[in-house]
Amino acid sequence: MTSGSTGDTTRHVEETRRFQLRDVNVDAAFFLPFLRPGMTLLDVGCGPGSITAGLAGLIAPGRVIGADKDPARIETASRDAAADGVSYRVADVTALPFEDDHFDAVFANALIEHLPDPGAGVKELMRVLKPGGAVGVRCPDWSSALLHPDNDLMWASIALRNRWQQHRGDHPDAGRLLRGLLAEAGFVDINADATAQSHGTDDGVAEGVRYMHSILNDPELVALAREHGWANEVEMEEMRRSWVHWAAQPGAFSSFFWCHATGRKPGRV
Ligand SMILES: C[S@@+](CC[C@H](N)C(=O)[O-])C[C@H]1O[C@@H](n2cnc3c(N)ncnc32)[C@H](O)[C@@H]1O
Repeated sequence: MTSGSTGDTTRHVEETRRFQLRDVNVDAAFFLPFLRPGMTLLDVGCGPGSITAGLAGLIAPGRVIGADKDPARIETASRDAAADGVSYRVADVTALPFEDDHFDAVFANALIEHLPDPGAGVKELMRVLKPGGAVGVRCPDWSSALLHPDNDLMWASIALRNRWQQHRGDHPDAGRLLRGLLAEAGFVDINADATAQSHGTDDGVAEGVRYMHSILNDPELVALAREHGWANEVEMEEMRRSWVHWAAQPGAFSSFFWCHATGRKPGRV
């Protein structure tokens, strides 16, 4: 699929809606103990900037730079998540346009799993951090998923989603790698942990179905599934229905881990 086609646009709108629901006090909760008023912070892979703007409020009168490689994300962030002390710029985490030892803290939510070479990205975070500065990275781990009641079609849809991610060079199980990635890059005082994201209310279950349907209806996935024999249209439709059937059950519940890790660049704070 070429960039800018209908599938891409629909996906971008749906992803933006979902990312805009993110909140600094939930999605960056693990990193809040490292924040101080007046610090300089980089949020890489900032997307539409919902967490970035929240970070700015917590370190005022400091400065946050939100960086993302996608100009459309930076345009949305500059428009919708404008906040005092924040600026946004297009930048790739593998070649950040900042000098060595520049930031007091570097944060990345839901970025590492999208990098073809996660280790190279984490090393670049280390480069732009001041000695003693703090890093915080977080991403999901899809193999931790728990579904109840479950069935083969639901698991097949998750496997199909993960296969699509891997085909794109992503890492659906990156969460469990974070501690090792920080260690390999040379960070110290590393602390890795995880929290669960669950769908356990009527609204939450509906959101889970909406997410899986957005995946199973994505024109790029539908075309790849057909081309590579991952699933035919009848099977895809059965997978979509399995989520609707699941949601109709009073005990429908799902959960999976978001893993996070913090560390410090060696040297004096
Ligand atoms: C799943 S979104 C997360 C957005 C935001 N951090 C949040 O949690 O809502 C991942 C973001 O990382 C960006 N991204 C992917 N690869 C990148 C790279 N190499 N350098 C910078 N940003 C990248 C994407 O454009 C996208 O906006």
